[in-house]
Amino acid sequence: MSEPGPFLRIEDLHKTYAGPRDKVEVLRGLNLSVERGESLAIVGASGVGKTTLLHIVGALERPTRGRVWVGGRELTTLDEGQRALFRNRQVGFVFQFHHLLPEFSALENVMMPALIARQPRGEARRRAEELLAAVGLTHRMEHRVGQLSGGEQQRVAVARALVLGPELVLADEPTGNLDEETGEKVAELLLRLNAERGVTTLVATHNERLAAALGRRVRLAGGRAHPVD
Ligand SMILES: Nc1ncnc2c1ncn2[C@@H]1O[C@H](COP(=O)(O)OP(=O)(O)O)[C@@H](O)[C@H]1O
Ligand SMILES: [Mg+2]
Repeated sequence: MSEPGPFLRIEDLHKTYAGPRDKVEVLRGLNLSVERGESLAIVGASGVGKTTLLHIVGALERPTRGRVWVGGRELTTLDEGQRALFRNRQVGFVFQFHHLLPEFSALENVMMPALIARQPRGEARRRAEELLAAVGLTHRMEHRVGQLSGGEQQRVAVARALVLGPELVLADEPTGNLDEETGEKVAELLLRLNAERGVTTLVATHNERLAAALGRRVRLAGGRAHPVD
């Protein structure tokens, strides 16, 4: 299966928010290409638009102007139903604050997207168990998420992001809320999953060590992406 061009291609992307007084032009003609299986760090000062960029690539938000192709499909041509399907099936989101359900077990949290996608329960469970093993949490599977440590919760969130086998993982400050050592473990996990599963991985991060460990880095500034060596 080949696709023309890079896995992710962003052309002349603009995003403008209406502020209380004037417009906030966050993205201003951003161009970016990412090959399938690559891992990319997106760095830049707070407020430059890292989250906005991830949300547009993940079809959580629409651009004001410009085009975004993921796996050969251009996101602005999709209707709401197709965008929802794309978000659920093709993209795994890892947020700074993980949005897990604290009253449910780690296993239930990881299974949830698969059950919502109407996968058979046994299959969902098998995949969730496999992923929880991959993130080193077999011994915590039955624990309620509210009882887990911050680092364990973030690893559950990574497992949940992968349960439907997405082609693309979008991680927004995945270590931002963790102490250094725990953040390191979550970072290693993302890198290992990228290497082993070939999932294209975009990580917005302030964590310099994480950024350095990823395959490539870009810095957002002035509404555009600049290469970093
Ligand atoms: N929904 C929104 N409405 C208005 N302004 C927004 C909205 N979302 C983000 N912004 C503004 O866009 C800019 C970029 O935000 P963001 O993408 O969150 O930056 P980063 O993730 O790099 O810190 C900020 O100035 C922020 O206040
Ligand atoms: Mg952000």
